[in-house]
This record gives sequence, structure tokens and C-alpha cells, in this order.
Amino acid sequence: MNIILLGPPGAGKGTQAQRLVANRGMVQLSTGDMLRAAVAKGTPVGQRAKEVMAAGELVSDAIVSALIGEHLDASRDKGAIFDGFPRTAHQAEALEMLLAERGRTLDHVIELVVDEEALVDRITGRSTCASCGAPYHDTFHVPKVAGTCDICGGHEFKRRPDDNEQTVRTRMAEYRAKTAPILPYYEEKGLVRRVDGMASVEEVAAAIDAILDG
Ligand code: AP5
Ligand code: MG
Repeated sequence: MNIILLGPPGAGKGTQAQRLVANRGMVQLSTGDMLRAAVAKGTPVGQRAKEVMAAGELVSDAIVSALIGEHLDASRDKGAIFDGFPRTAHQAEALEMLLAERGRTLDHVIELVVDEEALVDRITGRSTCASCGAPYHDTFHVPKVAGTCDICGGHEFKRRPDDNEQTVRTRMAEYRAKTAPILPYYEEKGLVRRVDGMASVEEVAAAIDAILDG
């Protein structure tokens, strides 16, 4: 099964993708994570992406489509969760070609429907475990034991440089202008499933499970 998780910054794409990885063994393909890894390593792609990401704007379609192409085959057996990709009409076309070349298809496009104002609080309170990347939130999702990751027991947590209010507003504007308009393309194909992304993490997960098992 191959699915897209679609929604604005902070909608919960990464949180839900990681649950699907843990519970179903699916493979998360997050272009944001791939780009952050490239920035951290200082690769040519990372050098080109760094400032664009810090400004909250979109990295070029060619770069992110190539990244997905490089990582796609790792998800052949267990299925892919596309997290943060596609984000433009060109990327949607690129994905269709990449899948078709491999004889694969999309099963669901899951839209996390959210209230944008609430997302600013979600994003500015977000942190992740520095060792395993598990996501947390200062208010909505704290570790069971303070300062200790539930998943790996790590004690260090980090925050993203683009998680400040000004950049978040730009990221949301980019979503509205370039990403939301690809929904009708998938609606025509009958692939869009809507989930209330304002419900709790567990309720959202249950709704996604119902779609995947339905
Ligand atoms: P990317 O990394 O994809 O960021 P994003 O889309 O802005 O989304 P986020 O990762 O911020 O949010 P999320 O939906 O994953 O939410 P999360 O689960 O963490 O992209 C970053 C940048 O890279 C882009 O701006 C762009 O520059 C570039 N880029 C990436 N892909 C690209 C592409 N395809 N094309 C061009 N450029 C690209 O949750 C957020 C917080 O809320 C967490 O703290 C979490 O614990 C909490 N939370 C989650 N769910 C709930 C819930 N149900 N209730 C309460 N709290 C919740
Ligand atoms: Mg994410």
C-alpha cells in the first residue's frame, strides 16, 4: 500500500507517519527529513536548500523529486508513506511517473484537515528526540518520563530552525498557494480521504487505520 499524507505545516504528517512505520512496518518518505539530512551533511543539495527552508519557501521540484526517486525502492515491499511530498502539481506528476515506472500505484491520499491558527502553537512547541527522531510537543505530547524519550530512552531533544512564527506563516502561505491546489487532481482519481487533524494523536491514528484497513 502506498499513501500520501497531505496537510499544512504542523498538521501531524510526521507524527502519523512514524506511527505507521512502528505499527505496520511501512517506510516513511519525508522530503523535509531528507532535506534536513542533506543540510546537516552539507551536501550540494543541502547547501542549495538551507536558506530556502529557513525562509519557509519551497525547494525546487527537481531536487525533491530526485530525492524521492533515490529512496523509493526501499519501500517496495512494505509500502510508502509520502510525508510532505508531493507539494506542487509538478511533484504530483513526477510521483505518478516514478510509481508507474516501477509498476506501483497510489492507494490513498489522506488529507489531515486542520485549523491553521492552532497549528502555530503546535509548531512553535514542537521538539524531537535527538537520537531517534520521535516527535514531542511541550503541551500536547510530553514524554511519559520528563526529559526521557518514550521510544529510545534518549535524553536530548532538538528544535527545527524553521519552527518560528514568521517562517511558519510563510510555510502556510506556500501550502495554500501551491499544495492545496493539487487536491482536486487526486479527488478526480477518487483517492482523497479526509481525516479531522484537530482530534487527538490517537484519534487521528485510529481514523487513518480505519482507512488503511477498510
Ligand atoms: P517539512 O519537514 O515537510 O515540514 P512541514 O510540511 O512544514 O510540516 P511539519 O513537519 O512542520 O509538520 P507535520 O505535519 O509533520 O507535523 P508533526 O507531526 O511534526 O518541510 C520543511 C521544509 O522543507 C519546507 O518548508 C520546504 O522548504 C522544504 N520541503 C520539504 N518537502 C518539500 C517538497 N516536497 N517540495 C519543496 N520543498 C520541500 O506535528 C507538529 C507538532 O504537533 C508536533 O509537536 C506534534 O507532537 C504535535 N501534534 C501532531 N499531531 C497532533 C494532534 N493530533 N494533536 C495535538 N498535537 C499534535
Ligand atoms: Mg513533518
